[in-house]
Amino acid sequence: MPETGNGDTLTVTDNRTGRTYEIPVNEGVVRASEFRKMKAHEGDFGLMVYDPAFTNTASCRSAITHIDGEQGILEYRGYPIEELAEQSSYLETAYLLLYGELPTKSQMDEWTHDIKFHTYVHENIKKFMEGFQYDAHPMGMLVGTVAALSTFYPDAKHVADPVSRDIQTMRLIAKMPTMAAFAYRHNRGLPYVYPDNDLSYTGNFLSMLWKMSEPQYKPAPALERAIEVLFILHADHEQNCSTNAMRSVASSEADPFSATAAAAAALYGPLHGGANEAVIRMLGIIGDKKRVPEFVSRVKSGEDLLWGFGHRVYKSYDPRAKIIKRTADEVFELTGPNPLLEIALELERIALEDDYFVQRKLYPNVDFYSGIIYQALGFPVDMFPVLFAIPRTVGWLAQWREMLEDPEQKIARPRQIYAGATRRSYTPIERR
Ligand code: SDX
Repeated sequence: MPETGNGDTLTVTDNRTGRTYEIPVNEGVVRASEFRKMKAHEGDFGLMVYDPAFTNTASCRSAITHIDGEQGILEYRGYPIEELAEQSSYLETAYLLLYGELPTKSQMDEWTHDIKFHTYVHENIKKFMEGFQYDAHPMGMLVGTVAALSTFYPDAKHVADPVSRDIQTMRLIAKMPTMAAFAYRHNRGLPYVYPDNDLSYTGNFLSMLWKMSEPQYKPAPALERAIEVLFILHADHEQNCSTNAMRSVASSEADPFSATAAAAAALYGPLHGGANEAVIRMLGIIGDKKRVPEFVSRVKSGEDLLWGFGHRVYKSYDPRAKIIKRTADEVFELTGPNPLLEIALELERIALEDDYFVQRKLYPNVDFYSGIIYQALGFPVDMFPVLFAIPRTVGWLAQWREMLEDPEQKIARPRQIYAGATRRSYTPIERR
């Protein structure tokens, strides 16, 4: 931390009044409320700070995930993402994100049992899903179904009760794969497959997606591990757009199912979790590595985005993209190569050499290669945001619990700069 003249403070002179203020600097931030003290005249509201899209605003203090955007570092509760992807499982990582420590063997056994206990959904959820068109986007189905799930658990409104928070946490983590798989099976006109709790969390998900007439689905270990790694990588990412939605909706003490539906809705956007779907569509439109330069020109002229590139925080290579790229090689050994990979690699090669992207610090993010793997694994493109929402559910829930337990947090309600009409009187329609 650079030394400052007067300890960790800012000295601010308001030239409108000549008054000087000492503002404390703590943990690299100043409190916006300090600026309310700066008034130009008696009765003045005081200064606000203006930060559209919160590009430079800390909304909370969090101990869950640390990102260093310049260094390309991502850590869950202090553990490097590279080590967790290599050695952990999704459920173990979920426990770590929620409770702050890696579980002991007995804690992990209990946690696994608790999750498996909640994988079923009420039979009426099937009827609810049948209301969707056959070609309904599965992410739209998931968002609607998660919100509908809140009506089955009225006890979820008791957000101040830690016991209730724990049960809803288990229900949501356990049921997301079930609802996601039901949406997939609905799109294909296939019968729903019930959870098989003899399988792992990811193995059960694959079974609910792809089991047909065989007595028990047997997931290919390499495929099961690939999904496990992808789920670990997508589990949390500090204050991203969908987590901000989760915290904001839950700050009114809405139940966690409704807040998770709001978070999933935010994730659905192409600039966020929908980018993995947009990447595949982009690669398909480019069609051949020879046409990459032509597409890059379109991006540089502002006619298109390089989907899967860029990040609000990472100004270097997204560490998750590096791991996903390595995982892709392992998957392709099983499934055969995805022809889009060649186009993606050429796109990355050209972009990383081109000043337009280098100057703007645009690198591949988590979405650039994930879709290529999902497609090689046999997932349809519109399932990609769903594959992001399932693992991110634990991140949303960890942030939700942390927000409720933070004494500084209360209902989120930003201010504004009013830029509208000045006061005026109503004019009857015959005189307009
Ligand atoms: C995720 O926040 C998270 O943590 C999200 C996430 C998570 O785990 O939760 O990491 C998951 O959402 C990853 C991002 C997936 N989205 C995409 O891949 C969509 C394409 N990327 C862009 O839309 C963009 O990079 C964002 C939205 C990701 C970040 O946008 P910012 O931070 O608001 O940056 P910006 O729009 O201000 O861009 C700065 C400059 C601009 O150029 P200039 O106006 O300065 O000339 O870079 C340009 C932008 O036009 N730019 C791009 C670009 N991204 C930024 N130009 C071309 N292609 C891109 N992808």
